[in-house]
Amino acid sequence: MSTELWTAVDGYIENLFLPDDPALSAALADSTAAGLPEIAVSPAQGKLLTVLARAAGARRILEIGTLGGYSAICLARALPADGRLVTLELSPLHADVARANIARAGLAERVEVRVGPAVEALAQLAAEGAEPFDLIFIDADKPSYVAYLEGSLPLARPGTLIIADNVVRQGRVLDATSDDANAQGAARFNERLAAEPRLSAIVLQTVGSKGHDGFAIAVVME
Ligand code: SAH
Ligand code: DHB
Ligand code: MG
Repeated sequence: MSTELWTAVDGYIENLFLPDDPALSAALADSTAAGLPEIAVSPAQGKLLTVLARAAGARRILEIGTLGGYSAICLARALPADGRLVTLELSPLHADVARANIARAGLAERVEVRVGPAVEALAQLAAEGAEPFDLIFIDADKPSYVAYLEGSLPLARPGTLIIADNVVRQGRVLDATSDDANAQGAARFNERLAAEPRLSAIVLQTVGSKGHDGFAIAVVME
């Protein structure tokens, strides 16, 4: 197994499917310049989010964990002109960088970045009586993933797609005694996803420029 080969194949996929994307390139460059960690989804994973959001016919999308707005741009591109993406972010700096990146991508009208702890923001959305979301992307701090799933279900409807990033963590989810809080959080999330009768779900492991990890993909049942 070789990260070099996975990265080369990611390059091949990007050349075919994402040859030139100034808004996304600039979003990454400005995120790095502002000192944000380089942990956005890969370009191919971002395109997967766009494709899934289009397949779902999503008009309302919720994201948990904005960073510099890379995945938010990928998701919001799938929205119709009157669609809406709400993205939740703890860090005011990350939120500022994201707003600028989203505006440059021409998506400011469709995207709202909410700053604060996401568990509280989810409860607030429910209290506001927010219309159900068609797609929910979970990608913030891994130890809170179960709480994010619990906070997301009341904001969903039958047919809502729930996607979560980083649920394999280079296989560290296999180690029940791991002291890696992120892997433990992902493992508890996967167990909850598998046991949740309201969901039909699977985990797909991924390799590529971001190493070995995985996406959980679930749909809310009737
Ligand atoms: N989805 C982004 C990457 C998100 S990285 C992309 O692919 O482009 C994870 C983000 O979650 C970071 O910006 C971090 O600040 C944020 N985060 C961490 N803890 C959080 C919390 N409790 N509530 C909301 N956001 C949180
Ligand atoms: C890491 C990667 C991610 O995609 C993320 O959302 C958080 C952390 C990481 O590799 O540390
Ligand atoms: Mg992630």
